[in-house]
Amino acid sequence: MPKNAVQLGRFLKEKTAILSKSRAESPYLHCLLVLSKVVGKPKEYLIAHPELELSIEQVQAFSLYFERLLKGEPLAYITGEKEFWNLRFLCSNVALIPRPETELMVEKALALTKSQRVRYLVDLGTGTGAIGITLASIWKDTRVILTDISLEALFLARRNCVRILGDTTRVSLVCCSWLEGFHPDFKAEVITVNPPYVSKGERDLLQESVRRFEPEKALFAKDESGLSEIKRIFRQAVHHLTKNGIVLCEIGAGQAQDAVSFIRQLKVYEEVQVFKDLAGTDRVIAARL
Ligand SMILES: C[S@@+](CC[C@H](N)C(=O)[O-])C[C@H]1O[C@@H](n2cnc3c(N)ncnc32)[C@H](O)[C@@H]1O
Repeated sequence: MPKNAVQLGRFLKEKTAILSKSRAESPYLHCLLVLSKVVGKPKEYLIAHPELELSIEQVQAFSLYFERLLKGEPLAYITGEKEFWNLRFLCSNVALIPRPETELMVEKALALTKSQRVRYLVDLGTGTGAIGITLASIWKDTRVILTDISLEALFLARRNCVRILGDTTRVSLVCCSWLEGFHPDFKAEVITVNPPYVSKGERDLLQESVRRFEPEKALFAKDESGLSEIKRIFRQAVHHLTKNGIVLCEIGAGQAQDAVSFIRQLKVYEEVQVFKDLAGTDRVIAARL
């Protein structure tokens, strides 16, 4: 090997040591995943071949990404991808990074509609499209409407539609606030939504990387309880669900009780259920008309 050649194993060790000194999480794994993107090989291949020699271009490309890792930017924004329900979603800082706990929405949507034909699904505040596109990949005959208040997020969701679903003729993307502007006669069997539910007062409790890099619109509700958008959605959904239709909504820790009493006060939903995520936190409310 030439004297100044850069050997992958040694390079990875050096960069991991540098990143460990910052407050970055999982320094080895994150360096490895960024290197895997730069080299264009799976991480397992890199682990098995520490003797590989990196080209100058690869070292330079890694350095640009590494600067971002050092500044604490989330890995998914750097690699531009995040896995959700075994699908790979394109990510950028215009939308929230799909979270593993949100997979519970998909699981419950499938379980609660087992014997029901879903002709229309609306995924409100779709972001990357994680929930709506995942369900669309399973319900192959369902017409899907993905909405967001952010046009940039919708462009990203559209790219994910093409990437994951291929044929996008049964998917519509709409820029609007929740269900405002939907035709009064429009009704769906399922509405899913993971709304912004963090109160501004809880800002400092968020992980620093979330606070600094993920979009405010995706995180913060408009009131101190964090329930403003959840309430708005359950009020509006009444008018756009079929009989027996379901709205599934992600909630934050500690919000279940107040959200459920609000929904019961509306006196229109027949059945209201709360589901816990794997950490035992109340995470999804499902209400059936
Ligand atoms: C918590 S993120 C959820 C993103 C994605 N559904 C997920 O689960 O990963 C909330 C999303 O709602 C969108 N949003 C915020 N206010 C909205 C509104 N009034 N109407 C529609 N979408 C809104 C944000 O732009 C953001 O994409």
